[in-house]
Amino acid sequence: MAALIFALLFFINHSPVASPRAIGHEPPSTRRLPDIIVIGVRKGGTRALIEMLRLHGAVVSARNEIHFFDRDTNYRLGPDWYRAQMPLARPGQLTVEKTPAYFTSVKVPERVVRTKPAVKLLLIVRDPTTRLLSDYTQVFHNQLEKRKRPQPLEDLLMRDGDLNLSYKALNRSLYHVHMERWLTVFPADSIHLVDGDALIKNPLLEMKKVEKFLKLEPQINASNFYFNATRGFYCLRAAGKERCLHDSKGRQHPQVAPAILQKLQEYFREPNRRFFDLVGRTFDWK
Ligand code: A3P
Repeated sequence: MAALIFALLFFINHSPVASPRAIGHEPPSTRRLPDIIVIGVRKGGTRALIEMLRLHGAVVSARNEIHFFDRDTNYRLGPDWYRAQMPLARPGQLTVEKTPAYFTSVKVPERVVRTKPAVKLLLIVRDPTTRLLSDYTQVFHNQLEKRKRPQPLEDLLMRDGDLNLSYKALNRSLYHVHMERWLTVFPADSIHLVDGDALIKNPLLEMKKVEKFLKLEPQINASNFYFNATRGFYCLRAAGKERCLHDSKGRQHPQVAPAILQKLQEYFREPNRRFFDLVGRTFDWK
C-alpha cells in the first residue's frame, strides 16, 4: 500500500501534466536586481516616468520606493534583501525601481556601482523653481495629513530678506551639485536625462527616447496616452484600461510673490548653466 502511495506521489510530482510551466514551456520568472533605477529627482515626475515605462511589455517595476541605497537600515540587509523587493521578471524582461531620494543622497552613487555596476540610470529633471514649489507643496500636504500646521513657504525660503540657502528644497534643485557626484562614479552614457517639463506636455516623445536609451524594441505608442482635461495631464491606457496618476500628482502650487519668484529664478541661473555644461545639453528653464 505504502509503495502504491509513493508511486502515486512520484507520478504527481514528476508528471509533465502536473507542471503548468511544462504546458506552455514557459521559462521561470525570477526576482533580479534592477537593470534600471530611476534615481530622481524628487518631484521631477518620477512616478509618471516609471508608470509610463511599465507600458512596455519588457519592463516590470517594483511598486513602492525601496530606499535600499539611501537608508542604512535597508542597505545593511544586503543585496539579497534588495533582490527580494523586486517583482518577478521573465527572462528578457527588465526590472526597474524608483527612489527619488537616491539622486541627492551622498553615499548612494558608490553603493549603487558596488551593487550593480552595469545598471542603467534614469534621472528626470524639471525647471528647478517649479520643482522647489512642488517639493514645498508635497511637504505642506504631508504636514496637513499629520495634523501639523505647515509653515508658509516664505518663512522657509527667505531669511533676513535673502534666500535661505539651507532650505532643503532649494538644495535639491541644485542639480549640478548632485550630478557631479554621480558622474565621478558612473560614465555619462549610463545616465539618461528625461525632461520632466517635456514629459508633461508630450509624454510619447520623451518615452521614445527612454526606449532608445534602454535598447527596448519600440512599443510605447500614441494610443497609450490620452489627455484628461479635468486633471490637466496625460493619463495612461493599456490593455483597454485607462488610468490617471494618483491625485497627489499634479497639485496646485502656492502663490508666490513675483519678487521672490524672480529672486529664485535669478539664483538658479548659474547652477543651471553649470548643470548644462556638465551634461552637455540645455533645458528650457526660466
Ligand atoms: P506636481 O504635483 O507639483 O504638479 P514625482 O512623481 O517625482 O513626485 O513628481 C510629481 C510631478 O509629476 C507632479 O508635480 C506633476 O507635475 C508631474 N507629472 C508629470 N507627468 C504627469 C502626469 N501624466 N500626471 C500627473 N502628474 C504628472
